[in-house]
Amino acid sequence: MKTNKNVFASKVGAILAAAGSAVGLGNVWRFPTETGTNGGAAFILIYVLFMLLLGVPIMVTEFAIGRHGGEDVTHAFEKMSGGQRGWRWMGLIPLVSGFLVLSYYAVVAGWTLYYAYEALIGGFSGKSPEDFTNDFVAFSSDSLQPVFWMMIIIILTCGIVALGVQKGIERGARIMMPLLFVFILVLVGCSLALPNASKGLTFLFQPDFSKVNSSVILSAMGQAFFSLSVGLGCLCTYACYFRKDIDLMKDGLSVASIDTLVALLSGLIIFPAVYSIQGLQPDAGPSLVFITLPNVFQQVFGNISWLAYLFSLIFYLLLVMAALTSSISMLEMSAAYFHKNLHLSRPLAAVIVSVVCMLLGTFCSWSFGDWKDVTLFGMGFFDLFDYIVAKLIMPIGGMLMCIFLGWVVDEKVLCAEMTNNGTIKSPLYSTYRFIIRYFAPLCIFLIFANELGLFGFLK
Ligand code: ALA
Repeated sequence: MKTNKNVFASKVGAILAAAGSAVGLGNVWRFPTETGTNGGAAFILIYVLFMLLLGVPIMVTEFAIGRHGGEDVTHAFEKMSGGQRGWRWMGLIPLVSGFLVLSYYAVVAGWTLYYAYEALIGGFSGKSPEDFTNDFVAFSSDSLQPVFWMMIIIILTCGIVALGVQKGIERGARIMMPLLFVFILVLVGCSLALPNASKGLTFLFQPDFSKVNSSVILSAMGQAFFSLSVGLGCLCTYACYFRKDIDLMKDGLSVASIDTLVALLSGLIIFPAVYSIQGLQPDAGPSLVFITLPNVFQQVFGNISWLAYLFSLIFYLLLVMAALTSSISMLEMSAAYFHKNLHLSRPLAAVIVSVVCMLLGTFCSWSFGDWKDVTLFGMGFFDLFDYIVAKLIMPIGGMLMCIFLGWVVDEKVLCAEMTNNGTIKSPLYSTYRFIIRYFAPLCIFLIFANELGLFGFLK
């Protein structure tokens, strides 16, 4: 029997926790990076389309599976399939993804924590553009420093997960999510007031479709999935803690709207800032927020040093909080598996997962330095983990969950879950069912086949 402690206490708490899982570095760091390197507005349009047509339906699918399962994800698949034990293996998706995603995610989260610390002690003041580049390269390729900050992030995450569903995950989201919005709005206001901000807006909102090719499409899909945390089983895990009166479709749309809003607002912070200094380019890649932006803060607000100090500090604290609300859901996936299936206490399960992630995270961190030349399939550990998570597990996991819910599960069970046993209306139910049965699996398959070179479309 589910005890109250294992359920989000309120509907708002459940939405904030799921939105916290979605909103993260994917919005503030990955989205501007991907937008910058994939040509701007056209990429954003394709990304939003993927959000609506694939991201939201897959998110709702995860919610339905998790909430129906109640206690735990592994058994959720079995229970939903009408007791077919063969479907239990799908519960391994969150277990494996939890380790993979947190290991490399915590590396970048660790960088943000280090930059927040540097901002706090006034470490950016008086630096030249070259200093920012050299310092970032020296820091990220160091064998110890980034590993230390990555471990601090994992320890903080572990502490919150160990506190439990209501006292840890829900309370963390209730505190951090509103604060995150306040920080974002302050920064957007400052950024839009900068000289040349309109060029940044043009880059964000004026599409140039000549830049679109199959790689842009795959990246847009990967970004939509990554940003919503779908396909990994994060949301399935959280949905196990949802109350029975939650409207899954409405919550899915709310979470996706919050997530997209945060991504666009992050673009509104970053691109006007980048364009405010002549010579800087939006396609700087992953270093955008660690080299380009601290440089921008110093150059633009250099004369008013307290403003540069405040802007940098708020920006990096924003990144840290966004990272934490997501890393909590990543650790929870694997920890919940050990807690429920091996009957370990919650704190012990969280510690075990944390230790393994610290080890894998160390390898990922070293791929920027000592292990730069250690590659597998032509990629270092960090890039390999990112590729496996964002471009393989998320879409394939999402596709499998859609096939499972659309074709294996009895329609009565699905309909009961979407309408809370007939107590609410679900006007989008037929569209949703069509998407998970036909559109999503086919669309994901075609994009993959195209990427593997089976068609010459858009190459
Ligand atoms: N959805 C999480 C993020 O955006 C993984 O960072």
